[in-house]
Amino acid sequence: MFSIVILISGSGSNMQAIVRAAQSEHWQERYGARVTAVISNKADAKGLVFAREQGIATQVVDHKAYASRELFDAALQTAIDAHSPQLVVLAGFMRILGFDFVQHFEARMVNIHPSLLPAFTGLHTHQRAIDAGCRFAGATVHRVTPVLDVGEILAQAVVPVLNDDNEGTLSARVLTQEHLIYPAAIRALLQQHSPRST
Ligand code: GRF
Repeated sequence: MFSIVILISGSGSNMQAIVRAAQSEHWQERYGARVTAVISNKADAKGLVFAREQGIATQVVDHKAYASRELFDAALQTAIDAHSPQLVVLAGFMRILGFDFVQHFEARMVNIHPSLLPAFTGLHTHQRAIDAGCRFAGATVHRVTPVLDVGEILAQAVVPVLNDDNEGTLSARVLTQEHLIYPAAIRALLQQHSPRST
């Protein structure tokens, strides 16, 4: 079995898109792949409700309950390892993860970032793209390395920046594309993993 663990902090709309793609594209039958757990650092993350409704195991590892980043990372690592994942998917997970944690999951951890990397790493990507006068913005799925928002690019989507865009309108346009490229990028990884599948 190819176990996928998804980490969220909020609405989890990317996680939902991935779970729906797994269902509609029959990832279990085709690739032996299943979303085995959704883990959040926030107990009130809306995405947890959806995951529970889908019968997916959920867990909260609240960063505020740990005295240091290292202790939080260690607890999170234990929670993830319990599902022996082949793939760890960061989907709007809003904590910076330490070197040891990333090294532990390196080569099997991916993230989606709401910009056309390598432009606009970090936060407030949409406003910064508008302020810079960019004509295009987008999102990037990439492998996770210890350096923030760097790592092999697996997929990108481009959207236009319109004259009257604000952070809200641009982020909504980008998000609709995220929901397409994130499941597609994971499907491509699954196809590489089981090359005889269609
Ligand atoms: C997305 O824009 C993602 O690119 C960024 O955080 C947002 C998460 O949205 N990392 P959601 O929780 O998947 O709805």
